[in-house]
Amino acid sequence: MSEGLVYLDHAATTPVRPEALEAMLPWLTTHYGNPSGSHAVARAARQAVDEARELVAAGLGCGPGEVVFTGGGTEADNLAIAGVVAARGGTAVCTAIEHHAVLHAVEAVGGRVVGVDGDGRLDLDQLGAALDDRTAVVSVMLANNEVGTVQALDGVAEVVRSHAPGAVLHTDAVQGFAWLDVAALTADAQLVAVAAHKFGGPKGVGALVVRDGVTLAPLLRGGGQERDRRSGTHNVAGIVGMAAAVQATVAHRAEMAARVRRLRDRLADRIVAELPGVVESAGARDGRLPNICHLRIPGVESESLLVLLDADGVCASAGSACASGALDPSHVLLAMGVDRAEARSSVRLSLGWPSGDDDVDRAVVALVRAVGQLRSPAGITS
Ligand SMILES: Cc1ncc(COP(=O)(O)O)c(C=O)c1O
Repeated sequence: MSEGLVYLDHAATTPVRPEALEAMLPWLTTHYGNPSGSHAVARAARQAVDEARELVAAGLGCGPGEVVFTGGGTEADNLAIAGVVAARGGTAVCTAIEHHAVLHAVEAVGGRVVGVDGDGRLDLDQLGAALDDRTAVVSVMLANNEVGTVQALDGVAEVVRSHAPGAVLHTDAVQGFAWLDVAALTADAQLVAVAAHKFGGPKGVGALVVRDGVTLAPLLRGGGQERDRRSGTHNVAGIVGMAAAVQATVAHRAEMAARVRRLRDRLADRIVAELPGVVESAGARDGRLPNICHLRIPGVESESLLVLLDADGVCASAGSACASGALDPSHVLLAMGVDRAEARSSVRLSLGWPSGDDDVDRAVVALVRAVGQLRSPAGITS
């Protein structure tokens, strides 16, 4: 379907890896059992879920019993925040640049939001000041989905331990998993959310790591699957596909991240060189995910730009796909101190595992053409 198109929206979702599709197919066709049953067909499905759990746990640096399969990243984030607060009482604290899956869950329990600097980095002093003995859960994303800022979670964990020793640290690693060594970088967090469709697995399946000793109340009650932490018949094919995507991602991650970083840097360098006034968001590139190129292009409205890019075969976005359609400027950029007009003139180009040189070359040509058209007095080029 995307043949001939330049797809630069991998942070919204990325194609299913062939390894994941191949692993899933039997569980969508001949192997149709419900893993909660007891006969042979059910037992085969149960075994597939158990094996997938081992693989996902290895990729996330936790024990198999600490993996709770969910219906995606949004559910994992909601389970982390609402589940801990429901189990323990108290409230939640998060950064101002979290995905809405976290922000809205924190708001729903009357929690607090902590600011970030111009690069999207959490202010640890502000975090410390926001914590007290009522804080049950603190949520700080590993990597931001719009601008790509990566947070140092070890420092965050230290502040949580010293200011709210009874609280647990949750991290949304949904964008990070494709590019970063999540097992190592989230070792200090008690709860970790991931979503398969961001790293080559299918949509609608994810996981929450719940480290031993953390109690949370389920969001979904029913048959008691996932050791009573998430009821509902397992999405067997999705879980198997996610496990295959975890394996493939971890196996190729370092080399893939280095390759995509070079592509992203070339993309950003060429655009900045060819278009006066363009600013890359979120500071030094090595403090950001390797695949995200977030630009502010003065004098150009994001929406008009996206329409022209789309017409030219380039798929990009202006922030989080989950909020697409909204005309409001991005809450992430506003939290970083970007003014509203500038926030409305931004574009996110995000590369992924299938991206190549041709995508970069074609995107630069299309972007330069579109911006030229939008900046020309008549809004048209000859
Ligand atoms: C950082 C982050 N968290 C959570 C989510 C939600 O994940 P899902 O789409 O699987 O519900 C997204 C999706 O864009 C995301 O980028």
